[in-house]
Amino acid sequence: MEVIIRPDAEEGCLLGAKIIAKTVRDKPDAVLGLATGRTPERLYRALVGMHRDDGLDFSRVTTFNLDEYVGLPPGHPQSYRRFMDEHLFRHIDIDPANTHVPDGTAEDLQAECRSYEERIAAAGGIDLQLLGLGRNGHIGFNEPTGSLNSRTWVRILSEQTLTDNAEVFGDRAAMPRHAITMGVGTIMEARRIVLLAFGPAKVRAVMDMIEGPLAAICPGSALQAHPRATVVLDEESAAGLQFSDHYRWVDENKFPWQRYD
Ligand code: F6R
Repeated sequence: MEVIIRPDAEEGCLLGAKIIAKTVRDKPDAVLGLATGRTPERLYRALVGMHRDDGLDFSRVTTFNLDEYVGLPPGHPQSYRRFMDEHLFRHIDIDPANTHVPDGTAEDLQAECRSYEERIAAAGGIDLQLLGLGRNGHIGFNEPTGSLNSRTWVRILSEQTLTDNAEVFGDRAAMPRHAITMGVGTIMEARRIVLLAFGPAKVRAVMDMIEGPLAAICPGSALQAHPRATVVLDEESAAGLQFSDHYRWVDENKFPWQRYD
């Protein structure tokens, strides 16, 4: 894993946006895997700024989101489709037909999961997958102890996740308890992964993901086995890491071509 520690979330998001922008400039028809949640909001704002001010072109880009709540129609204020429209899609020149979010209202959810996998494969696989990290170590909605080889599936959200997301959702009782999510195996097939984790609430999960054993108890730890995974942290989320001096040393000694800014 490449571990990069930035002073704060703002700078971490800017770095994440630069990595995505470079991917799109190098490959204008790139396939991006995207995440929702509080973590990437500023990253999307930075991408919107790069589109507006520097002409970053998304017209040939295809996207696949990690997950969607079961039962929420696309227009629902808390749906992840709506989140993506509001934070990114409607502000850039992407073709809406090329933006994919699992359909949480599909009558046959398992068929929707299979079709999502097929659509990713038909697009040629994911060039870069953006991830956040749950306080319990989840990636997508792959909760602790689920298979590390899983494909897109329907997951039951853990009580911890319900509590964490209730803050955004408002009413916990109204929150769906199920979600469609790319599996860990699906995520691991992305050619490149960039995970962002910021703030004191993520300290434990960050320690387990980077320096703990590769284990289903922390789904994020699967990234240890990925050939090209970059983890972007801020000082707060990196506070528990045993080898943080080493990560900083590596970062300081990179060749210019190994840097993103
Ligand atoms: C979102 C997702 C989740 C979040 C994670 C962190 O699409 O798949 O894994 O990335 O729950 O959420 P925030 O960023 O709100 O702390």
